[in-house]
Order: sequence, then structure tokens, then C-alpha cells
Amino acid sequence: MAFDSAQQRKIFGQFATGVTVASTRVGDESWGMTANAVTSLSLDPPLVLLAVVRGTQSHTWFCEGRCFALSILAADQEALSNRFAGKGPKDFSGLSTTTAVTGAPILSEALAWVDCQLESVLPGGDHDILVGRIVAGDSRDGEPLLYYGGKYRRVAPLDLNP
Ligand SMILES: Cc1cc2nc3c(=O)[nH]c(=O)nc-3n(C[C@H](O)[C@H](O)[C@H](O)COP(=O)(O)O)c2cc1C
Repeated sequence: MAFDSAQQRKIFGQFATGVTVASTRVGDESWGMTANAVTSLSLDPPLVLLAVVRGTQSHTWFCEGRCFALSILAADQEALSNRFAGKGPKDFSGLSTTTAVTGAPILSEALAWVDCQLESVLPGGDHDILVGRIVAGDSRDGEPLLYYGGKYRRVAPLDLNP
């Protein structure tokens, strides 16, 4: 019997993640999608994975673009996460962006970013796992935006002297 999907969501709601805007470009057009199914996969070679729901517009864009960038959001960038989480066209108009090697847009104010060439697409049930080879990246100091229990959160320092 299949494991209950609501239960799976509840369980992994307890697994805190960061939040990224994954982006790609096809010709002169760009596309972005909020994503937290993201993991640093391998150091040698340098690989990351991004899981994308099959059958979505985002899936088509990432596979056609053959590249993706991940902009890791800072604590004050919740609005950017919401902007790229809706269905349908999601462009970068009005936002400050840069590019590195592949041409996929990178949010200038991101806490950290990687730019990747799409290396392979692996089946993962109702998602596909996009494996990207990192060709550029950088980071700055700051606090990350977190996603946990279906809500955005911030890092709270541990009180070491209760
Ligand atoms: C915090 C958060 C994390 C998300 N992570 C992912 C993800 O890792 N992969 C994914 O396919 N969708 C993810 N989504 C949903 C997509 O952002 C959303 O379904 C997508 O932007 C819809 O675009 P499309 O249907 O036009 O392709 C996430 C949404 C939120 C709010």
C-alpha cells in the first residue's frame, strides 16, 4: 500500500530547508521558480540537484534551457519567494539580476548562488531530479530565509546561557 502523501508532507514539514529561486534561460527569455528540493550532491565533480515537478511549465523550461542557477534567498527575501512560487510565467522584470557563465539570471541580492550546466535528468516519481554541474558561484555573509512546517522562518540563535 502506498504511504500516505499527507503524512509524508507532515513528516518532511519538520525538515527545515533554505529557499532558493531556481532560474534558467531559453534564448533571450528567462524563467524562475521557487525551490527548496535542492541539495549539494557531489564535490568532485561539483554537482547539485534540483527536483522539479514533472509536467509543469517550469520542468519544460529547465529541460529546454539545459542550465540552471540557484539563488539562495536571504531572510528578508520572502516576497521574492512568493513571487516565484505561483503558477504561470515568472520573469525577472524590475529585479536586479546578474549572469555568470550559462546566462541563467542570478538575483543580485541573493545570499549565495551557483550557476550550473544541466548534466542529467533522473526519474524521481512525480518529480524529475535535475543534476547540475556547478560552473560558477559565490556567497556573502548574512541570514538565510528558512522554510519549515509550511511557513517561512528565520534562524534564531541558541540561547547558550539559559
Ligand atoms: C518554499 C517553496 C518551495 C518549493 N520547492 C519546489 C521544488 O523544489 N520543486 C518544484 O518543482 N516546485 C517547488 N515549489 C513549487 C513551485 O515554486 C511552483 O509550483 C511553481 O513556481 C509553479 O510553476 P509552474 O507550474 O508554472 O511551472 C516550491 C514552492 C515553495 C513555496
